[in-house]
Amino acid sequence: MPLQGPTGSLPLPNFVEKRLSSSSSSAKQRSLNIDNVNQNVRKAKYAVRGELAVKSEEYRAKLQKGEGKDLPFDSVISANIGNPQSLDQKPITFFRQVASIMENPALLENADVLEKHFGYKSDVFERADKLLKDVKSVGAYSMSQGAAGIRQSVADFIERRDGYPADPTSIYLSAGASSGVNTLMNVICATPQTGVLVPIPQYPLYTATLSVLNATCVPYYLDEESNWSTNVEGIRSALKKAQKEGIDVRAVVVINPGNPTGASLQPDDINSVLELAAEEKLVCVADEVYQTNVFEGKFHSFKKGLRDLQKSEKNRDGKFENLELASLHSISKGMVGECGHRGGYYEMVGFDPEVVAEIYKFVSIMLCAPVIGQCMVELMVNPPQPGSPSHPLYDQEYNHTFHSLESRAKALYNAFKEMEGVSCQPPQGSMYLFPTIDLPVKAVEAAEKAGKKADEYYCLRLLDATGICIVPGAGFGQKEGTLHFRTTFLAPGTEWVGRITKFHGEFMDEFR
Ligand SMILES: Cc1ncc(COP(=O)(O)O)c(C=O)c1O
Repeated sequence: MPLQGPTGSLPLPNFVEKRLSSSSSSAKQRSLNIDNVNQNVRKAKYAVRGELAVKSEEYRAKLQKGEGKDLPFDSVISANIGNPQSLDQKPITFFRQVASIMENPALLENADVLEKHFGYKSDVFERADKLLKDVKSVGAYSMSQGAAGIRQSVADFIERRDGYPADPTSIYLSAGASSGVNTLMNVICATPQTGVLVPIPQYPLYTATLSVLNATCVPYYLDEESNWSTNVEGIRSALKKAQKEGIDVRAVVVINPGNPTGASLQPDDINSVLELAAEEKLVCVADEVYQTNVFEGKFHSFKKGLRDLQKSEKNRDGKFENLELASLHSISKGMVGECGHRGGYYEMVGFDPEVVAEIYKFVSIMLCAPVIGQCMVELMVNPPQPGSPSHPLYDQEYNHTFHSLESRAKALYNAFKEMEGVSCQPPQGSMYLFPTIDLPVKAVEAAEKAGKKADEYYCLRLLDATGICIVPGAGFGQKEGTLHFRTTFLAPGTEWVGRITKFHGEFMDEFR
């Protein structure tokens, strides 16, 4: 019998397969097997690192060993995951200079060398000194919630961004936004009947975490025709339907700007979601990790939306006073792209202090977020300001990354516009495009024959023909009867876009 991957459908990487098959005779001596491990983990799905990603890594390894002569491509492009620095994005020099001193304070003994030969400026030393005073050593645990000085910087940033004060005691530093989401969901989800409203399509962290926690995902659909907008009536009807089925819906997740859609919510949409949350007593979880990846219009935060509402006429009966809002941000995305350092934060407002105490306990059990990641959070929220010695280079690097992301998004969008059967909403933000594909009936039949969904089949064929790894729409959720794929626009150059166009033409011809 062929070995099955942990989701029941994924193939396992070669090394795992080898280990399993060589030891199947001793399986009886083991405590754990696939049927007795936590079945909630087994049923969770995370397509961005699924079957296609595993296969693409095998191709990459083959090419690296010089064994890929039979392959029709000479490089693998990982357009499946928003991992900026694994592609073209360069780290921001100021961040890495400060981090280098944080990791090795002995460098300070040769500060003149750093200045003369490595271009370190005085504000790099000042910042490293400030951070070292706050955390003492990046090799030490910080307090559970994160270093106090760094949380103060985050609060100052939120205040500058939104025009309303933020309280550092309401800010939790985390190992990326994922860890924050995990904490929040662990505390929110009490029984299998606990429901959380999740946008579809969505970044599968949410569906996967809810699966692991054996809670109920309550999907609400974003509106592709109006550029993937969030329609509050759609959320309300999903909520009512779930409530009728006995689900205790406690939270609504909004990804703003969206992954995989890139859409940003406008103030009116934000208000509508917050009004619904207040009326229905829902915790609002605002995932704002792409807040600087916005090409169209402007980013509007949920926190500002809430504070505006609290000040407005609409709050005369105090209905927004206790609205629970958790907003998340991360160093992984934007022009920072430091996802390997695992840093982020979430701010919680309106929560019951006894609930906050449980959240505090939950994060304490995991001790603290990586301290170097916490320092990166500080640098993200408090970058060099105009007039400071490191500002010119910071500004140049930031703008270069922003504009190259924007121009790649446009180049990819223009290519998609020309492809038969592909329609794509204009790029608005985040790091992805999520086009619809309309495949010929014969291609859908060929997919069925191969035991695949049609979008999976298309993506697998693309990978086999071009070495480009993208993710089928099914991995994010899509309306019944529609097919999509998601690609990042992080990969450098435009040669790979040409590979997609060529493959697509040939694929369509094959199944005409
Ligand atoms: C919407 C969204 N939220 C959270 C994350 C996780 O980010 P982090 O690296 O901060 O855990 C991602 C990563 O792609 C994402 O797209």
